[in-house]
Amino acid sequence: MFQFGKKKTQTTQNYYELIDKNNIPKHIAIIMDGNGRWAKKRNMPRTFGHRAGVETIREVVKACSELGVKYLTLYAFSTENWKRPSEEVGALMNLLVEYLRAEVEELHKNNVIVNSIGDISKLPQICQDELKNAYEKTKNNTGLTLNLALNYGGRDEIKNVVKKIAQLIEKGELNSDQIDEELISKYLYTANMPDPDLLIRPSGEYRLSNFLLWQVAYTEFWFSNIFWPDFKREHLYQAIYDYQNRDRRFGGIK
Ligand code: FPP
Repeated sequence: MFQFGKKKTQTTQNYYELIDKNNIPKHIAIIMDGNGRWAKKRNMPRTFGHRAGVETIREVVKACSELGVKYLTLYAFSTENWKRPSEEVGALMNLLVEYLRAEVEELHKNNVIVNSIGDISKLPQICQDELKNAYEKTKNNTGLTLNLALNYGGRDEIKNVVKKIAQLIEKGELNSDQIDEELISKYLYTANMPDPDLLIRPSGEYRLSNFLLWQVAYTEFWFSNIFWPDFKREHLYQAIYDYQNRDRRFGGIK
């Protein structure tokens, strides 16, 4: 398993230059982890770390857009994150609103589609409204699709698909032998999007935390010890460079 920090001789510039611009991953998914620990190290409240994490989002979105990545899915709030103290949940919701209000014009100018995945009907109304505004404004763009995963859980998503399919069968609109992987994918939040090619998790944790469970069947994983607020363009470039040097066989042989 590769960890950032081992190839100390490479510089920022090197990784950017080393990337094959004709083999950019179409879909990158990121578990933005380590905000709380980043803040704790500085004797600051956890929300300070989340605010710093938003700066990283800005930078990574720009970098992906410039590189021609088609989909960037950011894990911003999981179905389990409601267990956090209400002040932290509230601060995250406020940051989301602030981010959308401040960025949507710029994102639109840069041809980005602002989309969300997850059950956003449980988010505060103001978040839902801002997400809707952002989507409506940007939905006809043709560049990067930024998927904000909010109140998202992989198991919840799969459970919803099972329910949907069961209902179709009950209504006589589907036979069980018509159920295949394509049909399941069609009812996921990520319908019509390619599965992630690359999944990045910073902060030294090596788990999926209920993120895109169906979609990551053949995704390449990249881990790093760096906390999300310290994650810079060069880390993204390094992750892409490493991805490009993986041997993807999808269960087959060369
Ligand atoms: C995980 O770090 C991070 C989150 C649960 C929230 C991520 C949210 C943001 C970066 C900002 C808000 C989102 C948008 C789209 C504006 P952690 O708190 O679990 O860190 P720790 O593991 O160090 O405690």
